[in-house]
Amino acid sequence: MRLDWSAACVGIVALLVSVNGRAAVDEEAALELAKKSNCLKCHSVDVKKEGPPYREVAKKYRGKPDAEKTLYTHVTTAPKVKIDGEEEDHQIVKSKKSAEIYNLLRWILSQ
Ligand code: HEC
Repeated sequence: MRLDWSAACVGIVALLVSVNGRAAVDEEAALELAKKSNCLKCHSVDVKKEGPPYREVAKKYRGKPDAEKTLYTHVTTAPKVKIDGEEEDHQIVKSKKSAEIYNLLRWILSQ
């Protein structure tokens, strides 16, 4: 039998998407974008720096259906945040590709 690669690819994608019932997170790409955007200067997964640890963010948003959308706005519109008592613009993510940004947010929310 000849292998039908396009069907095989659809199968693999479906498998990836079915993990946790949502799109699979590409952790490597998420970390790369976080590093490129300086996010890790103020955030880590479980230690409080200037910003809350991502594990805390994930906990805060657990079960909230609009979490990804809320955080998308947070990382693309530079809302004012308090850093050492001073108001500053929050860092904007260094990507214009929404798929890349959602991948990073899903990674944060899966911590
Ligand atoms: C200069 C420090 C700094 C940098 C750089 C930074 N953040 Fe933040 N971030 C903060 C602070 C402070 C808060 C807390 C804001 C608040 O609760 O009012 C925050 C909050 C957040 C939250 C939680 C928002 C919420 O609604 O609870 C997320 C998600 C987040 N940052 C993601 C990122 C990402 C992604 C990047 C990189 C593009 C990034 N941050 C870069 C300081 C920073």
